[in-house]
Amino acid sequence: MAAKQKYDLAGKRVWVAGHRGMVGSAIIRRLECEDCEVLTVGRDRVDLRDQAGVRGWMAEQKPDAVFLAAATVGGILANDSYPADFIYDNLMIEANVIEAAYREEVEKLLFLGSSCIYPKLVPQPMSEDALLTGPLEPTNQWYAVAKIAGIKLCQAYRRQHGADFISAMPTNLYGPGDNFDLEKSHVIPALLRKAHEAKRTHASTLTVWGTGSPRREFLHVDDAADAMVHLMKTYSGDEHTNVGTGNDIPILELAELVSDVVGFQGRVVTDPSKPDGTPRKLMDASKLLATGWRPKYTLREGLEQTYAWFCENIETARMSA
Ligand SMILES: NC(=O)c1ccc[n+]([C@@H]2O[C@H](COP(=O)([O-])OP(=O)(O)OC[C@H]3O[C@@H](n4cnc5c(N)ncnc54)[C@H](OP(=O)(O)O)[C@@H]3O)[C@@H](O)[C@H]2O)c1
Repeated sequence: MAAKQKYDLAGKRVWVAGHRGMVGSAIIRRLECEDCEVLTVGRDRVDLRDQAGVRGWMAEQKPDAVFLAAATVGGILANDSYPADFIYDNLMIEANVIEAAYREEVEKLLFLGSSCIYPKLVPQPMSEDALLTGPLEPTNQWYAVAKIAGIKLCQAYRRQHGADFISAMPTNLYGPGDNFDLEKSHVIPALLRKAHEAKRTHASTLTVWGTGSPRREFLHVDDAADAMVHLMKTYSGDEHTNVGTGNDIPILELAELVSDVVGFQGRVVTDPSKPDGTPRKLMDASKLLATGWRPKYTLREGLEQTYAWFCENIETARMSA
């Protein structure tokens, strides 16, 4: 991994932007092991799309380091239905936070993106240098363009001002705090909820959309947070870093594993009349893994932990649909 330079979080004031989100709250949990002061601010006090609000808060709080985990996030349906929100909100949030971080001489900033930054027909596994080598997936291009702009903002402030701003692109994440609303959720929370309800209603089958053959990669959010802190402490470079496990699994196998974890005894069936999506989406995480970082959760352990969290928090989890 290029350009290593240790950054010590001890004694630092660390702002986690987006602290109520799945990733932000995992970063807060992870920072409990660091000797630093964690700063947070709710959207009710500072809407990060508001430049004056962000500048004022940063000038008052003067963080030393920033994890930028705030974003307007959603699945294909939400991206397709609200393209203006996805591009505007995310561009504004990242431009405001990154510019204010530069003005307030923040020592280190980590910007979070996702695997959707890569072209639709990219060779697998997707390596960092595949960025901007082809057209994006049209349904989430609004979000992807904003996230690519975030990477470029970090690079531009590094080049022009010498700011130590870096970017990390995690694979599909899951874990406590995930969104279990079936209209908005990603595949793991959707399957956990469907299997839970199928068990409760003694249904005989659980249906998976498509053929079940597409392969996807998943990382527990606490492992992702650990990787963010690792990068914050050890990486300083222009290029973004993929954050993943290097392993993927067919969706049908995942559904069977989820059923097992949940205790759903029925059969998992496929519905090939529904679309499959991209056959494979795997991050090339070799750059990160070469630093010695490893995820702690196996997929089964992560699913067990997430299902336990879901059962304990069923009243408050995000699951309106
Ligand atoms: N989830 C995944 O699978 C995944 C995978 C790869 C990368 N990521 C990246 O991780 C980051 C966080 O994702 P997440 O899953 O944690 O999303 P999330 O659960 O929806 O959390 C987003 C956070 O951003 C805050 N936020 C959004 N708009 C804001 C605004 N205008 N002003 C202030 N705060 C605002 C939200 O505040 P409220 O609590 O007030 O709504 C929330 O705390 C994103 O950049 C995403 O691309 C996520």
